[in-house]
Amino acid sequence: MLKRRLQPFVDQLPILKTLKPIKKDKDSTFYIVRMKEFYQKLHRDLPATRLWGYEGQYPGPTIVEKNEKVNVLWANHLPERHFLPVDKTIHGANKGAPEVRTVVHVHGGTTPPSSDGHPDAWFTRGFKQTGPQFKRKMYHYPNHQDATTLWYHDHALGITRLNIYAGLAGFYLVRDRHERSLSLPKGKYEIPLIIQDRSFHEDGSLYYPSKPQRASPKLPTPSIVPEFLGDFILVNGKIWPFLKVEPRKYRFRLLNASNTRSYIFSLSSGQPFFQIGTDGGFLQAPILVKQITLFPAERVDVIIDFSAHKGQQIILRNTGANANPKTTGLVMQFRVSLPLSGKDESTIPSRLKTIHRLPLNQVQKIRHLTLDQKKDRYGRQLLLLNNKRWDAPATETPRLGNIELWNLINLTNDTHPIHIHLIDFFILNRQPFDVQHFKRSGKIRFTGPPVPPAPYERGGKDTVRVESGKVTRIITTRFGPYTGNYVWHCHILEHEDNEMMRPLIVKPE
Ligand code: C2O
Ligand code: CU
Ligand code: CU
Repeated sequence: MLKRRLQPFVDQLPILKTLKPIKKDKDSTFYIVRMKEFYQKLHRDLPATRLWGYEGQYPGPTIVEKNEKVNVLWANHLPERHFLPVDKTIHGANKGAPEVRTVVHVHGGTTPPSSDGHPDAWFTRGFKQTGPQFKRKMYHYPNHQDATTLWYHDHALGITRLNIYAGLAGFYLVRDRHERSLSLPKGKYEIPLIIQDRSFHEDGSLYYPSKPQRASPKLPTPSIVPEFLGDFILVNGKIWPFLKVEPRKYRFRLLNASNTRSYIFSLSSGQPFFQIGTDGGFLQAPILVKQITLFPAERVDVIIDFSAHKGQQIILRNTGANANPKTTGLVMQFRVSLPLSGKDESTIPSRLKTIHRLPLNQVQKIRHLTLDQKKDRYGRQLLLLNNKRWDAPATETPRLGNIELWNLINLTNDTHPIHIHLIDFFILNRQPFDVQHFKRSGKIRFTGPPVPPAPYERGGKDTVRVESGKVTRIITTRFGPYTGNYVWHCHILEHEDNEMMRPLIVKPE
């Protein structure tokens, strides 16, 4: 494994290219996106790295949409063998399943079930083989959502962690008229940032462990690891890049697309971020925050004002769990070295959107769902939702149009970012409880008052940090407008690949 130090801030931040449609008319837009193997330099002092990406780019190109009907043919042109270690004892990758399977999910999208990228709707190169939930080749996205920051990534059962690690992820930005009326920084002053951690071999190839560090001899080879933390932080596919900026306002979308790592972002200048959005779009009003915590799959939309920092170099830092201040504690650098090319006409509006009060009196169903820690037949950590494995019959079957309140009861020792497909939700609160008492009696005994969500998570969410020893309460938006097969799961990829995922079936009224 590469242990050598790589110099930070020697490569320019790549600006993600927007995907070009094959055809666009007044009714719909059509894209073909090919997944391909390619080589790309991720740092000045590292040989080019073998990657898998959408349209041969890492990370995949941005798709910018605004209420239009979009059809995408996601085409697998990948080799038939994986270049990362596939554990054939875990769900989806076992029973003679093809080694390389892909399926694309638009994370946070309100998508019909047949286009949602169900983990069992996978397909192989040229659609030669398909999974049991495979319904169609051409995916359809109605994009009826308000402007927000979505992303798309691979979701194939049992190998999602490897496919995303190889590079299969990208932004999917939804725009609308309201957003345009806000005069936020735009064009070259609006930059999406996809943040991921990776490790390497000396030759520049990606390193991903083929078994846990303290592996018992009984383990299969390869064997899934309980978590993965990389040694280097990449933004838009470069290790610790820099960006030259003008002394003015910029809009950045931050996406944590890492397998396991969580981040706490701050700026070395001590200045705040003006946060304007969450997973589900704009906040009611901008808030000033000095720190932003992002678990895997979470996003924030922020404005950084460089106007008082002419000539300075500002580091975007990470002080999250396991961060080393010299390496993984660095993310990227802003150099306020460009001359102002014109007056900064952008604004930070005082109101962004109307967010209605939580519809507590309209909740039609209350669920209590545990996060559990077990051991599998090899003695490896096994994390479950509601004490059930992936292939047990669905238990979360909301009715179309219903609002539900979910109590996520975390009995494990870790925080898990829990994600629900199809809908958004709002965080009501988090409340500590006696885990041992619950394990003995099945009853919740609270040990403290409920704590409201942090300011940065008070907008629409599709992924929520569920902390150890707490009940996290969320209220969903109405399940719909589609019925059918979806999923909910932990977004730590090493967990979702190993049973920490459950079906979600939206039933007709
Ligand atoms: Cu971002 Cu089910 O996934
Ligand atoms: Cu999703
Ligand atoms: Cu988890």
